[in-house]
Amino acid sequence: MPRRYFDANATAPPLPSVLEVMARAAAELWANPTSTHREGQAARHAVEEARRSLAEGLGVKPGELVFCATATEALHLLLRGLAPALGGLPAAVNPGEHSACLNPLKDWLVVRWLPGGLKGAATVVQMAANNETGLLGAMPQVPGAARIKDCAQAWGKVPVDLSDCDAAVFSGHKMGGPRGAALLWMRPGLPWTPVMEGPQERRRRGGTEDTPAILGLAEAARHLPERLAANAALAPLRDAFEAEVLGWSADYAVIGQDQPRLPNTSSLLLRGHDGEAVQMALDLDGFAVSTGSACHSGATKPSHAVLALGYTEAEARSVIRVSLLPGTAPADLDALAAALKRPRASRGEPPP
Ligand SMILES: Cc1ncc(COP(=O)(O)O)c(C=O)c1O
Repeated sequence: MPRRYFDANATAPPLPSVLEVMARAAAELWANPTSTHREGQAARHAVEEARRSLAEGLGVKPGELVFCATATEALHLLLRGLAPALGGLPAAVNPGEHSACLNPLKDWLVVRWLPGGLKGAATVVQMAANNETGLLGAMPQVPGAARIKDCAQAWGKVPVDLSDCDAAVFSGHKMGGPRGAALLWMRPGLPWTPVMEGPQERRRRGGTEDTPAILGLAEAARHLPERLAANAALAPLRDAFEAEVLGWSADYAVIGQDQPRLPNTSSLLLRGHDGEAVQMALDLDGFAVSTGSACHSGATKPSHAVLALGYTEAEARSVIRVSLLPGTAPADLDALAAALKRPRASRGEPPP
């Protein structure tokens, strides 16, 4: 049975040219970029060229970028490194932030939720785009506060602006790049201290650089203009799919339908259904989608990002997330819509 993948926000396949670049780098540039011999220096040169190219694309200075393995790691390095200076002062945070961001903030003495909670904040954290709902967030401005932006989900889907923040993180595996490559950007002057010491990355992230992953990331970033256009082209398809599904029941809704959101993401509230059961039925039918719920210690918890928007626990449990890859065709969405109708019948519910 052909499989159709609608979980781009979880991860996306690496571009073919990324795989080629990585395979070549793994075969030819395997030396340690910290070594001072010729082999090491060849790897160093390639890593620095990748950094220069990525920095140019983001409009920052190469020396301001730190290569990491994941955005989760980058957020931990960033927040744990800011904690000695800022952790005793209030932080204002979007309640829908990814756990990769909320977890290191547990070190903070006072965490208040946005959009209120800005008074006296010395740190402000706002994700550029929410992974579950696709909702875009504007960076609140508090004079003197360190402003942190999580661009893991936005990168490659919508333009990313770094002029309104002081630090940002990016992930490679959601924009056509490889797993194992991510970026931390910090504006000079942040009160940040290293937490993972070592000589690499100007003492900001110890550990031998992963040359193939870094080169793969830079290769994917070179294709961002096409990817942004391909993602923008998904919005009308996504909207037509949503209109079809909403037509089936007055109980159905799209989270954030009329708000600025990622062009590829549809967070469907299928009131009266269990999102997990729908997801499993679709999986059996050949369609990969996700739910907002996450499994913790054997029990599934409804999405905190959906609950934070004021939905009930039952509503949050009814959500499925459909996130499209660039290049998704209208026929793929037609097939998904047809399959989405079927699980209702298979559970003994009347057809819409
Ligand atoms: C908004 C957001 N931040 C951070 C992360 C973590 O990224 P990574 O998988 O690179 O650790 C994700 C991944 O889903 C995400 O969606």
